[in-house]
Amino acid sequence: MASLEMDVSSIAAGNTVTVKWRGKPVFVRNRTEADIKLANSVSLSELRDPETDEARATNPTYLIVVGVCTHLGCVPLPGAGDYGGWFCPCHGSHYDISGRIRKGPAPRNLEVPKYAWINDTRVVIG
Ligand code: FES
Repeated sequence: MASLEMDVSSIAAGNTVTVKWRGKPVFVRNRTEADIKLANSVSLSELRDPETDEARATNPTYLIVVGVCTHLGCVPLPGAGDYGGWFCPCHGSHYDISGRIRKGPAPRNLEVPKYAWINDTRVVIG
């Protein structure tokens, strides 16, 4: 299956871009220091699908997640919801700044696709 190479250097801090990969939206978010701090301040015991932020974002500045809600597959909206991450308007799932499910019916965190960094700003997804 096809990989997607992208340069993330044009994504402004705090912004999310959506790219298409294998027919699915993938969100790439340039996180601020405050975002990263917030993501790391959450205790795993608060999480429905416990995963550390470190495990989800190998380069913590850029979070890369598949933009498909783990409830019934709608596309969540960036920069929305109660936890500063994404909000799925279909049935009200709230994801945090690490793409982890925090509230609503979705059972799992937004999926992290396989990816590898070539350097600080170029990444290959898939
Ligand atoms: Fe996202 Fe139902 S599809 S909350």
